[in-house]
Amino acid sequence: MAKIAIFASGSGSNAENIIRYFSDNKNVKVVLVLSNQPCSGVLIRAQLHKIPTFIFTKDDLNERTKVHDVLKDYNASMIVLAGFLLKIPLYMIKAYPNSILNIHPALLPKYGGKGMYGMNVHRAVVENKEEKTGITIHYVNENYDEGAIIFQATCDIDEHDLPEDVKTKVQGLELRHFPSVIESIIP
Ligand code: GAR
Repeated sequence: MAKIAIFASGSGSNAENIIRYFSDNKNVKVVLVLSNQPCSGVLIRAQLHKIPTFIFTKDDLNERTKVHDVLKDYNASMIVLAGFLLKIPLYMIKAYPNSILNIHPALLPKYGGKGMYGMNVHRAVVENKEEKTGITIHYVNENYDEGAIIFQATCDIDEHDLPEDVKTKVQGLELRHFPSVIESIIP
């Protein structure tokens, strides 16, 4: 059975959608939700679905054992970043080869890199008068937003769209595609 650990820093709409999608699946299970934000919505959503949670600091993540030991305790075989804003350290990437996925709210390689998350991305896309944006689901490597791309989906940006409108369109794509793309790469 594939056991997924979800890392998230924010409201957790993607995390909850993934939890729901796999809730009756006999081969895939979300075993743990981890967050570096003690007050994040994702923790409440996980608790509502009775998924164990773990809160950690940036130092915990970089220190090699604390977070890794918890993942081992839950036998996690795959890590999904669903709005997670810290960089994944190299030891973790090596421990989970081709098994860490991220979703990014733009069409990488555009609008990626440090500081490019959430509304910052949508604001930049609107400021640059892009006609299209979308989502990218990719493997995680040691550089922000640079791992091999697994899947992209696009949406149009209308002339009068505000960053909030773009966010709504992108969220729609995320909710529609992320769980099935995760399922598609499970061996
Ligand atoms: C999502 O839009 C996700 O693509 C983005 O954060 C949001 C989290 O929303 N991730 C990044 O920007 C990563 N660079 P959620 O907490 O409601 O799932």
